[in-house]
Amino acid sequence: MVSFGMKLNRRMGWVALVLVAATLPGARVIRADDDVDAATKAKIAGYDKGPASVDVSAYPATIQKDYAVFRQRCTLCHTLARPINSDFVMPDEWSRYIKRMMHKPGSMISNANAKKIYTFLVYDATIRKKAALDGKLASAAPADKADAEAKIQKVIQESAQ
Ligand code: HEC
Repeated sequence: MVSFGMKLNRRMGWVALVLVAATLPGARVIRADDDVDAATKAKIAGYDKGPASVDVSAYPATIQKDYAVFRQRCTLCHTLARPINSDFVMPDEWSRYIKRMMHKPGSMISNANAKKIYTFLVYDATIRKKAALDGKLASAAPADKADAEAKIQKVIQESAQ
């Protein structure tokens, strides 16, 4: 009798433990912002509060389609405002970050969609974040500047086809 009671208690203990773990904030792996420092967290919180959409009505048709993919794929874990208001503008900043997002658990971003999102974000930076982009290009090392400009031109040319 005693041992049966203990068995039951232990099993219920496990059930309770699993229930508690599932409701802890840390258990929501998908949204965890825990792997960045406090300053980055504060900066990101600012992005989240900014505008949550881009007016793409004057963008080329292909870029408008890429925007739809971006909206769908980059809102699984956080606001769309986060990437929209981010200070990333250089092609390599975007490709590095898209890769980082692809490696997060449950991100569900295919290579084909990653390319579309990259194309949108690089194009968008040339319009909406032009001043910041020009600033970063101006202070980049000559080889990095040439590399970034080539990548930007490629995106612009492809979008015009
Ligand atoms: C699987 C969840 C997930 C998906 C999907 C996701 N993100 Fe994130 N994102 C995060 C987390 C978590 C952070 C917090 C900071 C970090 O880990 O880099 C973050 C932070 C960011 C930041 C702020 C980084 C900084 O340091 O300024 C940007 C920009 C960003 N994401 C862009 C994107 C883009 C673009 C996409 C779509 C390609 C995307 N995210 C999709 C989880 C995700």
